[in-house]
Amino acid sequence: MKDIITLGIESSCDETSVAVVKNGREVLSNVINSQINIHEKFGGVVPEIASRNHVEAISAVTKKALKDAGISFENIDNIACTYGPGLVGALLVGVSYAKALSYALNKPLTGTNHIEGHIAANYITHKDLKPPFICLIISGGHTHLVHIKDYDKFEILGKTRDDAIGEAFDKVARVIGLGYPGGPKVDKLAKEGKANIELPKTHVDGLDFSFSGVKTAIINMHHKNPDINKADLCASFEKYVTEILVNNAVKASKKLGINTIALAGGVSANSYIRENFIKLEKQGYKIYYPEPILCTDNAAMIASAGYYRFISGVTSELTLNAVPNLKIDNVTILD
Ligand code: KG4
Ligand code: ZN
Repeated sequence: MKDIITLGIESSCDETSVAVVKNGREVLSNVINSQINIHEKFGGVVPEIASRNHVEAISAVTKKALKDAGISFENIDNIACTYGPGLVGALLVGVSYAKALSYALNKPLTGTNHIEGHIAANYITHKDLKPPFICLIISGGHTHLVHIKDYDKFEILGKTRDDAIGEAFDKVARVIGLGYPGGPKVDKLAKEGKANIELPKTHVDGLDFSFSGVKTAIINMHHKNPDINKADLCASFEKYVTEILVNNAVKASKKLGINTIALAGGVSANSYIRENFIKLEKQGYKIYYPEPILCTDNAAMIASAGYYRFISGVTSELTLNAVPNLKIDNVTILD
């Protein structure tokens, strides 16, 4: 069978990324231009600044992705771009750029869901991974427990009722003065602490999540007692959220009779969360997670998800628009 080369384009938040992926699983290049330094001083992503920086970066990032992969535009079979969910102005840059390329090169365009991209990052790291499996997508914007029925069939089993888990990590980090983005900093500091601080449990029915209660409890504790041991606070927070993640994933696994659990998204780079999921392997679970560079936003994962859409016959028209609140099972089929 002929190889299929996908050009992936990601611009949903603060990373401008373009990648070249062969047959959905082999990364030929994955260029990521992060704006973290620009947004750091504001303590979070400023949407308009993100859009402007995507506009400035996208052509150079694309050129480099092609050069690193050793290919030219003619070698591309499909152009996959994130069209949601994300910041509308940021998404529009990647979507418009991908549409212009598709038109100029006369190559098919595949609008791709960012969350499906996070899931697909696992296909790149683990060549043996095939649906069905359960995936826990934990990132700055999402906390979803999803049944991956097939490459293009998803069922949401549970999601956060309030804050995304990454948002909670970032907020806790900011309040205790660790800076932005907080996740990696909490991860590091927690290793020096003990999980000895009692945090109030929030009861949530079914397989949903809630992180705003624990976030507020930590903010209040720190305000009341600014000398509280920050490392212990980080360790206690990580233990608290990890127990919820593991419990819900195990409940879902038992309910569906599927013992393969994959992690995805920026927070799945967290070492404590990983360690605790790996412990489940002793009980017969198969645990997968992407290599760190594929956990946070990148275009290789979008190219992989776009490849699976493309081979199942899904392509998008040049009327494709950004959909900031795109749902995971909302597939655009236009022909
Ligand atoms: O997937 P991602 O790059 O963006 C979204 O799609 O949201 O995730 C970014 C999030 C941020 O909240 C960041 O603090 C968190 O992932 N993160 C981590 C770690 N590395 C990144 N959270 C906890 N531990 C980490 N090691
Ligand atoms: Zn993401």
